[in-house]
Amino acid sequence: MPENMIQAEGLVKIYKSKETEVLALQGLDLTVEEGELTAIIGNSGSGKSTFLNMIGGLDRPSAGSLMVGGKNLFTMTEKQLVLYKRNTVGFVWQNNGRNLLPFLTVLENVMMPMSISGAKKKREKAIQLLEMVGMASKKRSRMNMLSGGEQQRVAIAIALANSPKLLLADEPTGSVDVNTANYIFDVFTELNKGGQTILIVTHDVALSKKVRRVVAIRDGKISSERVLKEAYADRLKETNIDWRQEDTQEEYSIVDKAGRVQIPADLLQEMKLKGNKVRVAIEDGKVIISTPEQTPQAEKEIENKKK
Ligand SMILES: Nc1ncnc2c1ncn2[C@@H]1O[C@H](COP(=O)(O)OP(=O)(O)OP(=O)(O)O)[C@@H](O)[C@H]1O
Ligand SMILES: [Mg+2]
Repeated sequence: MPENMIQAEGLVKIYKSKETEVLALQGLDLTVEEGELTAIIGNSGSGKSTFLNMIGGLDRPSAGSLMVGGKNLFTMTEKQLVLYKRNTVGFVWQNNGRNLLPFLTVLENVMMPMSISGAKKKREKAIQLLEMVGMASKKRSRMNMLSGGEQQRVAIAIALANSPKLLLADEPTGSVDVNTANYIFDVFTELNKGGQTILIVTHDVALSKKVRRVVAIRDGKISSERVLKEAYADRLKETNIDWRQEDTQEEYSIVDKAGRVQIPADLLQEMKLKGNKVRVAIEDGKVIISTPEQTPQAEKEIENKKK
């Protein structure tokens, strides 16, 4: 039985300043199992980075519960948090200024987190990681001599240096070209095949269509989830497919603990709802949501069925 790697329940994050309060997460529920590769999508400002930073231990939740790798992020002391960030999670950003040391070599950069944690066989491990991201031949280059895409690949190796249980990536392909984005995505899928649990925020429509599980955040909550259709599972590396156009995933709405469901925006528009009331009825085991205007008709149909 796979363990839960991430379990967020009713997660809330409020950013307070003197004048304003921003509700960045408003009761987010998400469970990610060990070994899953999950993508998070959502509009700008919907709370994706807030959520990822919280899982990464960079920010504290305001309310709710958050368990990662069996550890409770809400009750952790500062000391435990330092160890958690070092050993449980690895983080890759869109621009990796934060975890790259420009004047050290690629190899020294990858060995650095291992030096801090006191790991053994640092050099072998670092070279192995660089091979995995296709950067072993540049191990003696200084970071500031590399292209953005190359730096990004090294950043992945650095994030994996202490063998984290969970790899987090916030728009890791946001500032690289299409080929590099594909390469980076392939690195993630290979890692995942090897058992690595990965959570990745992306704006890239084509890439999100290749992920087995994609969750969408709307207004600080998970609003829907897409799951890759079986027919595409073995075709992810095919380059002759226009991934943007393909309908690769089945879309599901999410029912929260209080029974709330978000109606997808396009369906809501089609309903031509006036006001905010809907009729909810059950028919043949299906819940039907209809506008009040349609009710007599719907009721007639239900009556007819009964006869
Ligand atoms: N440190 C902060 N202080 C105050 N407000 C913040 C802070 N960080 C984020 N916010 C606000 O919280 C909300 C969610 O921001 P977040 O960065 O999580 O969005 P996002 O989904 O990652 O967006 P993007 O796709 O643009 O990166 C936004 O309204 C943002 O302005
Ligand atoms: Mg963001």
